[in-house]
Amino acid sequence: LVLVVDYGAQYAQLIARRVREAHVYSEIVPHAMSVDEMVAKKPTAIILSGGPASVYVPDAPKVDPALFSTGIPVFGICYGFQLMAGALGGTVEHTGTSEYGRTSVAIDDTGVLLHDLDDISSVWMSHGDSVTAAPAGFASLARTAGAPIAAFEAPERKLAGVQWHPEVAHTERGQEVIEHFLFDFAGCKPTWTSSSIVDDQVSRIRAQVGDKRVLCALSGGVDSAVAAALVQRAIGDQLTCCFIDHGLLRKGEAEQVKHDFVQITGVDLVVADESERFLSALAGVSEPEAKRKIIGREFIRSFEDVARQIAGDKGIDFLVQGTLYPDVVESGGGDGAANIKSHHNVGGLPDDLQFTLIEPLRALFKDEVRAVGAELGLPDSMVWRQPFPGPGLGIRIVGEITQDRLDLLREADAIAREELTAAGLDREVWQMPVVLLADVHSVGVQGDGRTYGHPIVLRPVSSEDAMTADWSRLPYDLLEKISTRITNQCPEVNRVVLDVTSKPPATIEWE
Ligand code: XMP
Repeated sequence: LVLVVDYGAQYAQLIARRVREAHVYSEIVPHAMSVDEMVAKKPTAIILSGGPASVYVPDAPKVDPALFSTGIPVFGICYGFQLMAGALGGTVEHTGTSEYGRTSVAIDDTGVLLHDLDDISSVWMSHGDSVTAAPAGFASLARTAGAPIAAFEAPERKLAGVQWHPEVAHTERGQEVIEHFLFDFAGCKPTWTSSSIVDDQVSRIRAQVGDKRVLCALSGGVDSAVAAALVQRAIGDQLTCCFIDHGLLRKGEAEQVKHDFVQITGVDLVVADESERFLSALAGVSEPEAKRKIIGREFIRSFEDVARQIAGDKGIDFLVQGTLYPDVVESGGGDGAANIKSHHNVGGLPDDLQFTLIEPLRALFKDEVRAVGAELGLPDSMVWRQPFPGPGLGIRIVGEITQDRLDLLREADAIAREELTAAGLDREVWQMPVVLLADVHSVGVQGDGRTYGHPIVLRPVSSEDAMTADWSRLPYDLLEKISTRITNQCPEVNRVVLDVTSKPPATIEWE
């Protein structure tokens, strides 16, 4: 286990991913965690992330110097590098030369950290302060115009750091710098692979469940399918899957799940039509967090009903969910993270939950889930399905959810998806939410008359893990086709607009 200490911004996520790409398991922890708590997790190494603060600001996040005497190897990146320098007696100053973006670097001494990497010439920087004197006993390895000491190390103490960001793609040979720390400094072993994840989870699930029965909430998406397949591998027919039709599904979705999943896995499936329950609970609600909480609660109530149906008063003790690491982090569940939105299966759970949750994917990013799915033998058509959020079309109608609005959006969404597939772009585009701005009207002219309808937003994005995303540059011809078909076929829609915002600042879904 490698702990990535989060000093803010998005860097910690990226570092954690890079460590895992080196086949070493990593977890993000908040900077407020005490050294004792960190040591208790028995990490093989600790990485201090970059962050937006200046080490001089009075309430800037700090590092407890005791961390450096635990004997645990520590690597500091950017802000973490400066914290390490400051805590061990080096000098960090505001030199007046900031560096942002691509920066030339000179490697003076490769040492252990940069061995074989003396040809690194440009790195990605983002700093105002600089380390001007290394702590005693540290060798300085590199410099840039604005950073007299841009990398240092003390190999016998297993401490090292870099001012630049080795985790970003623009930094030359950044992954190798991270791997040198992991393998040459810290002695980590690259044993975190899809098959080790499967073995590990299968034995955990068996130990947790014993001979009890388990219900798995299937949504039609990749995550719950992989979670179900993993649990099925562990406990076979003690598992029953259940698909709740909450009335917020896309066109053809319920049929597709019944057909695909059951055929492929042979799993026992119960389908429950609960659309009336959800729609009446959502009536009159337009605030996104309120919608998410209601949907999360009604899902659980539906699962409880299904459990009673199939197991009577004995009920079912365990519920499997396909919760992922980003769901946990964004719902504010990653230690110390801000609550961006309550993912229905994390922040949206009711307090009086009767089930014990089994969440075998809770520590994984999406690409890791896909690799596990492939390892379990699920077909590409399932593993590469685009993400669709549990709350479904409910969080794609900006405004109140009504049956008419759902029907309208369902039609527009089906057209957009059909055209995207026909253009062969399903795999290139991470997902393309189609959003109905039900609270907005705009004027149009259709036929010979004035219309006063609603805009539909297309939100195609590319992403690696949904933590960050860029808007997809779809071909104009395709956009035109989608726009024409939607305005022709969907009454009340007289305008189709394209969302050209990355994440951050916008999230992928509108609500
Ligand atoms: P955002 O909108 O937070 O979305 O950028 C990140 C990814 O998560 C999906 N998403 C959800 N998935 N339950 C889910 O199962 C939810 O409540 C939920 N909210 C967002 C979203 O589609 C994107 O892939």
